Amino acid sequence: MRILLIAGGWSTEREVSLSGARGIRAALKNLGHEVMDFDPSTDLGELFTKARQCDFAFINLHGSPGEDGLFQAMLETVNCPYQGSNPTASFLALNKAASKAVFRDLNLPTPDWEFLPTPPGNDWAPQLEYPLFAKPNLGGSSLGMTLVNGPEDLQDALKTIYDMGEEALLEAYIKGIEITCGVLDDTALAPILICPKDGASFFDYASKYIAGKCDEICPAPIPDSLTKSIQDITLKAHRCLKLSGYSRADFMVVGNAPYLLEINTLPGMTPTSLIPQEAAEAGYSFEDLIAKLIELGMS
Ligand code: DAL
Ligand code: MG
Repeated sequence: MRILLIAGGWSTEREVSLSGARGIRAALKNLGHEVMDFDPSTDLGELFTKARQCDFAFINLHGSPGEDGLFQAMLETVNCPYQGSNPTASFLALNKAASKAVFRDLNLPTPDWEFLPTPPGNDWAPQLEYPLFAKPNLGGSSLGMTLVNGPEDLQDALKTIYDMGEEALLEAYIKGIEITCGVLDDTALAPILICPKDGASFFDYASKYIAGKCDEICPAPIPDSLTKSIQDITLKAHRCLKLSGYSRADFMVVGNAPYLLEINTLPGMTPTSLIPQEAAEAGYSFEDLIAKLIELGMS
């Protein structure tokens, strides 16, 4: 097939996208496909022309735009199939405040939060206790995210987020271990235990993308009952948001209690990324994983 590889873009995760695309391009070629590249940061309108010339699009964009359903919607207008979730499911999953409200309504445990679409007034104070996380509501890869230890740091953390043109989400800090769990073809994969090194207080950008900055243990050495509960919540989250093909849910775990932070519809595919590791544990080489995602996207 001729496959349009969409990567780059202009979200804060541009470099993550381009890094993942290198491996995906090589895998597509090894699978015998012809690859046409498209970076939406050049001329967005060209997408329609290029998609019309291709049999399938592989979207490797993260954050907004890309993971928010915009490109998926554009591809649908020209009947070009793509991997992963449809436009509305993509937007719901990327919007942390909206997806957390769905999780709470379905009794899926998620840390408490406050959504601040606009800067709060000077006399405002959060109801959440410190420390807390301040995150861009549509962000990814921990960019623009701050662990806020006290009121004196909150305004700077919020300013960072609003200066990015984002809305802010404050989320309760759960002190525990970080675990991530993927879904492939409506089946939960083996969870990974994430252990950031060098004093990082959370799985930050450097821990995510610099090889060796983080220990990632797959399958996570945790009790079977906890693995099952994480996989169960992951599948429920994937299904309740009506996601397709694959996804990756991120958790903080305290004792035996998992808290779902978010679910990613276009999870990272760089050499240090997590879904490829979990798929490998299930017997899929990187090429097998790409082939499977194309098969699911075509069906
Ligand atoms: N947002 C990054 C790419 C991830 O979730 O893997
Ligand atoms: Mg994310």
